[in-house]
Amino acid sequence: MSQNEKSRPFLDWRSGVISVQEAIEKKEGPAKIRGWVYRERKSNKRAFIVVRDSTNIIQCLVEREDVPEDVWNAVEKIHIETSLVVEGTLKADERAPTGVELAVKNLEIVGPCDIFPITKDQSPEFLLDNRHLWLRSRRMTSILKIRSTVTGAIHEFFRKRGYHEFTPPIFTPNACEGGATLFEVKYFDDKVYLTQSWQLYAEAAVFALEKIYDVAPTFRAERSKTSRHLAEFWMAEMEAAWMELDEVVQVAKDEVEFIVQEVLRKNRAELELLGRDISKLEKIKQPFPTITYSEALKILKEKEGMEVPWGKDLRTIEEDRLMKHFETPVVVTNYPKETMAFYKPKDPKDPKTALCFDMLAPEGYGEIIGGSQRSTDIEELKEGLEKEGENPEHYEWYLDLRRYGSVPHSGYGLGVERVVAWICGLDNIKDAIPFPRTMLRKSP
Ligand code: 4AD
Ligand code: MG
Repeated sequence: MSQNEKSRPFLDWRSGVISVQEAIEKKEGPAKIRGWVYRERKSNKRAFIVVRDSTNIIQCLVEREDVPEDVWNAVEKIHIETSLVVEGTLKADERAPTGVELAVKNLEIVGPCDIFPITKDQSPEFLLDNRHLWLRSRRMTSILKIRSTVTGAIHEFFRKRGYHEFTPPIFTPNACEGGATLFEVKYFDDKVYLTQSWQLYAEAAVFALEKIYDVAPTFRAERSKTSRHLAEFWMAEMEAAWMELDEVVQVAKDEVEFIVQEVLRKNRAELELLGRDISKLEKIKQPFPTITYSEALKILKEKEGMEVPWGKDLRTIEEDRLMKHFETPVVVTNYPKETMAFYKPKDPKDPKTALCFDMLAPEGYGEIIGGSQRSTDIEELKEGLEKEGENPEHYEWYLDLRRYGSVPHSGYGLGVERVVAWICGLDNIKDAIPFPRTMLRKSP
């Protein structure tokens, strides 16, 4: 230890620190902060060190002649992402990136840092390869804060309405959304699948708890390389007994409106940092239109000159062209029964169609919710399963739910990353989740 190092008080990062945001709000007087070097620029005489923590960034100025020699020695060892604790005096300064500057008196390196591999203008693939480091970017930090608001809002929305959180198994013996996208897992000497949806288990639980929800990991072996599909994503699902299609659609609209309002209330700074057009989100107020699949085809034909034969599912391109005509989410009901999952019942008023719905987001973000009333007719369910190539015998436990006091019930699933991508205005869903999993990406 040199004499200089002993000549100043050791800076303890455990006590007396305030967050960067608190320092910015304080504007003047003494402050101690801790964080990571976001940017740095040094000359022989002074150094500008921009420090970030989870809350914001602040410029710190070190004047060589104002600090002990060992502080200056430490400054010379600083690189981007060095972690440190800094003490000094705050003052407002318009030239500083967040309007306040900390004149440094003392500084301690907590974790030294090699040259950080991420510099400006790197390719999306490079950033994905280095996701463990790129998470620290202001962009990813902002997205993750918004994601946290979104999932928090979902819990709050349902709990306020008397829903119980219900957790499903993740290993399952059955398909819910068709065999093609199942992930098979070795299970002792047998095999199971990773869950595609909590739904079948939720249908068992509503006859106990009546109103339930969850936010849980969901898996689909999607072979499509789109900007909307992940192999592992989080679905927020709800299921309620004594509920029919019109009522469950209203719950979905209320939920999405609430989520967007919560993000607007809590995350304006993050939306601005992402360059999101906030005025578009401010328009996300009910009423949200509800149209039928047939009406959607009519709009596509009349306004877009697109002929979609009745019975074909809407693809991304059709959804996008349809949504050009709306500024709020739109609910589309009554898709053709033929193309729908086995549990979606015929609409007695229009038996070619099912009592089901999707919610489409504006601005080309496509389907954010899929849901339906559930068939309570054992024969219809068995027929649907056979059509999907499933053996109804493997679903006996599920069919039991129709044998013992079944009631009308409905539910839906909201894709958390789809909603985050839309709210944040992201080009690709991969940025809506911390460590994306797709057909071509399973690390870091
Ligand atoms: O429309 P889906 O397939 O519906 C179900 O799974 C129902 N069993 C849900 C229910 O009724 N409880 O999926 C629901 C939502 C979609 O609207 C979409 O937002 C999201 O989950 N989703 C995906 N998100 C990211 N990557 C994928 N591969 C997704 N597949 C579905
Ligand atoms: Mg769907």
